[in-house]
Amino acid sequence: MALREIVTLPHPTLRRKARKVTEFGPELQTLVDDMVETMRVAPGVGLAAPQVNISQQLIVVEFGDEEDENAPKKLYILANPEIVKLSKETVMGVEGCLSIPGIVGEVERAEKALITGQNRRGQPVKIKAEGWLARIFQHEIDHLNGVLYVDKATRLWQQKDEEEDVPAAD
Ligand code: NI
Repeated sequence: MALREIVTLPHPTLRRKARKVTEFGPELQTLVDDMVETMRVAPGVGLAAPQVNISQQLIVVEFGDEEDENAPKKLYILANPEIVKLSKETVMGVEGCLSIPGIVGEVERAEKALITGQNRRGQPVKIKAEGWLARIFQHEIDHLNGVLYVDKATRLWQQKDEEEDVPAAD
């Protein structure tokens, strides 16, 4: 495993629509492992392949229970993710992005999301997410379409060091 460099704005890959993953061979497995390691070291709760300058539809997400800090984190690896359903109910939350250092912003997101995609072996998976997990998936899947949270934020501000970590930073 190796750490990948996280690219930041205005890197053009961040604004490109990512290609579908079609090969689930050793190269993809290495990319997945590297992305998981890079996300953990950053640290972040998610990472999309375009953030490591790979224009492919691949995301990794690792998040625990928002109600319980001590709950074990769950790792999601998703190729070709698609949002098939979003709840009408929305919720405001503060997001950050490893590709846009130093700022955070308030974004309105659907409270629940139903997501389909493929695991690292190419098998179909379906994920029902709500709350922060649903927010993280929406943020990551936006990355695959060249969309960044700053495009949707209603308010942006400089992140101060003394502020607590933003849970949705990826
Ligand atoms: Ni991001």
